[in-house]
Amino acid sequence: MKITIGSDHGAVALKEEVKMILKEFADIEIHDVGTFGNDPVDYPEIAEKVCNEVISGISDRGILLCGTGIGMSIAANKIKGIRCALCSDVYSAKMSREHNDANVLALGGRVLGFGPAGEIVRMWLTTDYSGEVRHTRRINKIHSLEK
Ligand code: RB5
Repeated sequence: MKITIGSDHGAVALKEEVKMILKEFADIEIHDVGTFGNDPVDYPEIAEKVCNEVISGISDRGILLCGTGIGMSIAANKIKGIRCALCSDVYSAKMSREHNDANVLALGGRVLGFGPAGEIVRMWLTTDYSGEVRHTRRINKIHSLEK
């Protein structure tokens, strides 16, 4: 699985921690689109870079981080085909995969500690979409809203 990851200046440290978690998985390839320092950057630009790699098929899934994760998730969900889940707990991470087939995870670097963030990421990576008809119908209705 290939994962594209990106953050703004509000979550650079958590991005590095999340990359360490991703390295626990032998089959995960990581593409980090930045940012890499503390200089302020505008999170919609990072969200666009990550989501474009998911939509184009360059990556299977994306992970976005900013101070709260809110700006990143709002921006990502503007992009056709993206289902971005902002998660601060493990249960939501699991449900975002099983029910919503979330293809992007958003995390808040000023909200989450490294430990909880790691558990969220592990759950999100290892949970499959249920594929149940009712969930697929609802996801299709979400994407109908894009038209
Ligand atoms: C940047 O200061 C901050 O607004 C950003 O990281 C994020 O929290 C926005 O939602």
